[in-house]
Amino acid sequence: MARKPFIAGNWKMNMTAESGKELIAQLKPLVKEAKCNVALCVPAILIPAMVKAAKGSKIKIGAQNVHFAKSGAYTGEISADMLKEYGVKYVIIGHSERRQYFGETDETVNKRTLFALENELTPIVCVGETLSERENGETEKVLLKQLTVGLNGVTDVTKLVIAYEPVWAIGTGKTATDEQAQETIKYIRNTLGKIFGVKNANRVIIQYGGSMNAQNCKGLMAQPDIDGGLIGGASLKPDFATIVNFDK
Ligand code: PGA
Repeated sequence: MARKPFIAGNWKMNMTAESGKELIAQLKPLVKEAKCNVALCVPAILIPAMVKAAKGSKIKIGAQNVHFAKSGAYTGEISADMLKEYGVKYVIIGHSERRQYFGETDETVNKRTLFALENELTPIVCVGETLSERENGETEKVLLKQLTVGLNGVTDVTKLVIAYEPVWAIGTGKTATDEQAQETIKYIRNTLGKIFGVKNANRVIIQYGGSMNAQNCKGLMAQPDIDGGLIGGASLKPDFATIVNFDK
C-alpha cells in the first residue's frame, strides 16, 4: 500500500498569535492543492488561535508535547484532553531538544507515546543520533534503543509517525545527504519490521528532519523510504509551502 507523504512544521518556541495567523493566511492558498498531509505543530498557547486560522484548509494543527497522565499536579505540562478539545490530531514526542534540555528519556517518550495512542492522537516520535554517536559508529545502536524502548508496548505501529532527526542536522544548516537519510531511515524501517512485522513496518510514515528546506526537499523526498519531513526553521516562512508542494 502506498504511503501518503506527510509534511509537518515544528514552530518550536517561535511565533505569536499575531504572526502565526498572518503566516497561516499566507500559506492557505499556497497549499490548497497539496497531495500530502500537512500539519503545523505550534506552541500550546497558540493552538486555539491557529486551529481557527487554519480552518477550512489542508493545514492540521499539532502540538509539541503531551503528558502521560490524564490530569493532575504536573505544572507546565499539557494533557491529551486539552489537545483533543481543540481537534488536535498530531503531537510531537521526544524531540531531541526535549531530550537535551528537559530531561526527556526513552522511558518518558514511551509513556507519552502510549498515552497519546490511547487517546487517538497521532504521535510523531522523534529519534536520531548526535554527531559524536555518528562519528563513533553508534547510530544504529542508538536508534535501536530509542525504538525498542520508546515504542515498547505499542500494539499498532501504523498509528504513529516516526521522525528521524539526526541531532547534528537540526538547526545547523547541515542536512544529512539524501543517501545518509535514506540509509538510516531504511534501517529504522527494518528495525520496525523486526519488532512489529514487515507488513506493518511498510505502512509506517517515516519523516526526515534536520535543516530540510525548499532547496533540498525534492532530493530527500525522492528517496524510497522517506515519506515526509519535520521542518523547523523553514516552517516559519511562506517558503514552507514549497516543501509541501515538493512534488510540483
Ligand atoms: P530544523 O529543525 O528544520 O530547523 O533543522 C527540525 C526539527 O528540529 O524538527
